Amino acid sequence: MNQTSVDAVREHRKQFPALANKSYFNFGGQGTLPRSSIDAVVATYEYLQETGPFSTAIFTWLNSQQELTRQSLSNEFGGQASSYALTQNATEGCNIAMWGLDWESGDHLLMTDSEHVGVIHAAQQLQRRRKVELTSANLSAAKTRADMVDLVVRELKPTTRLVLLSHVLWNTGRTVPLTEIVDACHLAGVPVLVDGAQSGGAIDLDLNGKDNADFYAMTGHKWCCGPEGVGTLFVDPAALDTLQPTFVGWRGSIMDYSTGQPTGFNPGASRFEVGTGAIPLFAGLRNSLDVHNRFADSKTRAQMVLTNANKAIKRLSQIPQVACLLQEAESGLVSFKVHGVTHRDVAMRLDSEFNVFVRTIPTPDCIRASIHYFTTDDEIERLATSIETILRR
Ligand SMILES: Cc1ncc(COP(=O)(O)O)c(C=O)c1O
Repeated sequence: MNQTSVDAVREHRKQFPALANKSYFNFGGQGTLPRSSIDAVVATYEYLQETGPFSTAIFTWLNSQQELTRQSLSNEFGGQASSYALTQNATEGCNIAMWGLDWESGDHLLMTDSEHVGVIHAAQQLQRRRKVELTSANLSAAKTRADMVDLVVRELKPTTRLVLLSHVLWNTGRTVPLTEIVDACHLAGVPVLVDGAQSGGAIDLDLNGKDNADFYAMTGHKWCCGPEGVGTLFVDPAALDTLQPTFVGWRGSIMDYSTGQPTGFNPGASRFEVGTGAIPLFAGLRNSLDVHNRFADSKTRAQMVLTNANKAIKRLSQIPQVACLLQEAESGLVSFKVHGVTHRDVAMRLDSEFNVFVRTIPTPDCIRASIHYFTTDDEIERLATSIETILRR
């Protein structure tokens, strides 16, 4: 990066209060809110109180806030605004898609061995309640991208009704070849649900094009740096009618106000929304997406994430006791093992003694550093030198 770009990143970072007093590597857990997003949320709550909070005018205004948010998501990730259901988080989106299919006893749900605990548990509950057969593709055994496609395809059965997998694996940071996997599954007539918790806001997405999954769940509070409590489920229009809303309420319904009766579901993905929510938070997510886009477009940011993550891999690999799981970054997640110590101890000491925030991962046992487009070389150096100091003591 030239000096102008370094200065631009330094200036950009000033918008994020949480970055001022620490070296932050937990964007895969929760992103850092820009000050202007906090302000947008507060201003929206204030407007709500001044103008309502409950009135005919406010009801129309709340609807427009939701429309603006769906529009902002479609500008960022592709497709039509009406394809986005507003949820609270990625897990909720996965649940909407999983429970929305008409499962029959003996149907097969294929997931992978690299999914997040919450989604695993949702799949197991589906298995228990719907008597679904649940198996996992052994993605962690894949050496190449082609292996990943093969490992999924070879687990498909005539009874497979859904493939569920993460786009970016939360433990190793590998990015799966989504286009190829979805194409292969579609060829077999099987829809694909993607857990996009670690991809939305970190890699360049086009949900209307190359990232052609049927259902794509994301959250706003990680790589997008929005407030916690706002996520989305993208539903491909062609797959919309294959899902039934499981939780049902006024927000997803068309209503006849004269009779007080529902007359049907909303035409788009908003049919999966249920009841009252924290609508002012949406202004925070929209603002965070604007903050990122004012800095650079999503393709450029995704490239910066990879460049920075590769710098982290290179620097960490200079420490003899450190082994990075990937030699070349595939996302913003850089996972590594530190030999001769307990990862939990290292993570805790990085936090308490050096103000360096990382997390541990249970399988494979390792430390995970999330590297964003605005992570600096200084921060990467601080992460590495802090580990070196811990290892020396
Ligand atoms: C792959 C993956 N899925 C799901 C989650 C849970 O996300 P959320 O809290 O948005 O549901 C996480 C992280 O917390 C994750 O890494």
